[in-house]
Amino acid sequence: MRISMTVNGQDVEADVEPRTLLVHFLRDHLGLTGTHWGCDTSNCGTCVVAIDGEPVKSCTTLAAMTAGHDVRTVEGLEQDGVLDPVQEGFMQCHGLQCGFCTPGMMITARALLDRDPDPDEATIRKAISGQICRCTGYTTIVRSVRWAAEHTDQDAHSSQNARATS
Ligand code: FES
Ligand code: FES
Repeated sequence: MRISMTVNGQDVEADVEPRTLLVHFLRDHLGLTGTHWGCDTSNCGTCVVAIDGEPVKSCTTLAAMTAGHDVRTVEGLEQDGVLDPVQEGFMQCHGLQCGFCTPGMMITARALLDRDPDPDEATIRKAISGQICRCTGYTTIVRSVRWAAEHTDQDAHSSQNARATS
């Protein structure tokens, strides 16, 4: 079947089988391999992308279900060569080791900060509770998200989002 959607601000059109999962569509059809696939049971969250701004597990979503929607992957976080404060925060606070869980974590963190610019530790831990990290023990991930909260220029960020979605 023919589907079209927006991925990281670009219009995409493709022929897919109805059973194609969004995670495979992104990785195998579009070559956006930042979105990872870490389980078969919808637990690990390393496949999380934003659909219309909401974090969603792309292994539990059919590509066809996102037709007509706005999809954002980790590759779309950086804008014009400038890292998103979330990406900068993970770097500054050592929020990653192997990096496998990182794309999903960062998409969830960005979605959290877009609706709650100043989340406390408990809120951050709850927001990432659908995502597993085997390396960090989570403390530095929480610190990274707090760093991003403290370094996000809300005005600049919302105008950037407005540009990206217009
Ligand atoms: S790949 Fe594990 S939740 Fe999607
Ligand atoms: S950094 Fe390795 S799984 Fe999170």
